[in-house]
Amino acid sequence: MPIVPTSAIGAKFIGWGTSLPEKIITNDDLSKTLDTSDEWIRERTGIERRHVGGTTASLSIESGRKAIQMAGIDPLTIDALVLSTTTPDRTVPATSATVQHGLGLRCGAFDVNAACSGFVYALVVGHGLVAMGMRRILVIGTDTLSRITDWSDRNTAVLFADGSGAAIIDAVSGPGHLLGWDFDADGSLEDLLYAEIGGTLHMEGKEVFRRAVRIMVDSAEKSLKASGLTSNEIDLVVPHQANLRIIEAACKRLDIPMSKTAIILQDTGNTSSATIPLALFDAADHGRIKSGDNVLLVGFGAGMTAASAVIKWNQS
Ligand code: UT7
Repeated sequence: MPIVPTSAIGAKFIGWGTSLPEKIITNDDLSKTLDTSDEWIRERTGIERRHVGGTTASLSIESGRKAIQMAGIDPLTIDALVLSTTTPDRTVPATSATVQHGLGLRCGAFDVNAACSGFVYALVVGHGLVAMGMRRILVIGTDTLSRITDWSDRNTAVLFADGSGAAIIDAVSGPGHLLGWDFDADGSLEDLLYAEIGGTLHMEGKEVFRRAVRIMVDSAEKSLKASGLTSNEIDLVVPHQANLRIIEAACKRLDIPMSKTAIILQDTGNTSSATIPLALFDAADHGRIKSGDNVLLVGFGAGMTAASAVIKWNQS
C-alpha cells in the first residue's frame, strides 16, 4: 500500500548547501595505477572525475553551514540534526555529534545509515519529526567512500568518491512539499555490496546493477502512486548517481525522458548519501526547478535499500 503523508503539519526547504573536497581524481589519473581507461569508465559508468578528501564531519559542517547561511537563520533555532552517512568518522559517537558541535547547534542529533538511499530516508524522517511537533530540521547526506575503497580494485575504485549536501526543512501551516514517499529494503541481498568494519567495499557489480534498476522503478512507482501523480507529471527526476546506464534504464521504464533528470555523476562519481542532495541543489542553483514543479527523488543502495519521495517545489 502506498503511504500517503497524513500530517496536517508539513515542511518545505528554506536553505541548502553542498560541499565537495578540493582534490580531484580524473579517469586518466586512475588509469596510471589501475588496468582501466578513461574510455571504459565513461562508457560503462558516465563518470569522468571525482572529488576525494576530508572527513564526513568536515564535509557535513561545510554543507550545513552553507544551508544555515542561505536560510538566514540562527543555528540555535534548529530542533534536530539528522545525518545520513554510511561512512561515519568513528564507530562511537555518531558523526552527527561532531557536526552538531561544529555548527554550534543545541539540539538532538543522530545518524541514519541506509547506504546510498540514506538521504531520502533522513529527509522523510525529518518530516516525521516536524509532524511530531518540531519546527526546523537540518538534514545532511555525506559520505567519504574513498576511505573504504580499495584503490587497487578496478571494480570499485573507478566508482566511489566523497561529498556532502545539506538542507533545512521548516514547518509550514499547510501540507508542505512532501507529496508521497517510499522506503524499501531487502536484507537477503546484503552480500551484494558490503564493507566489514575497518575493511573496504566489495561489490557484485553486475547483480547490483540488475537489481538497482528494478528497485528504483518499484520505489518510484510507489511514491508516484502515493502522491497521486503519474510519471509524465514529474518535472525533474533526481536519481542516485551510481551509473548513468542505471539511470537511463530506470527512466526508460518509468517513461521519463533523460532531459528531465538531474545528472552530476560525471563530475562527482558515486558519493552515496550525498548524490541526491548534490544533484538536487545543483539543479536548483542552476534554475532548473521552479515553484510548483514536481520533483522525484529516488535512491537505491547497499542493503539493498531503496527510497523515493515526490516533492512539490516551494509548496507550503
Ligand atoms: O551505490 C550503489 C553502488 N553500486 C552500483 O550501482 C554499481 C552497479 N554496477 C555497475 O555500475 C556496473 O556493473 C560496473 C560499472 C561496476 C561494471 O560495469 P559492467 O558493464 O557491468 O561491466 P562487467 O562487470 O560486465 O565487466 C565487463 C568487462 C570485464 O572484462 P571481460 O570479462 O569482459 O574481459 C571486466 O573485467 O570489463 C572489465 N572491467 C573493467 N575494465 C576496465 C571491470 N571493471 C573495469 C574497469 N576498467 N574499471
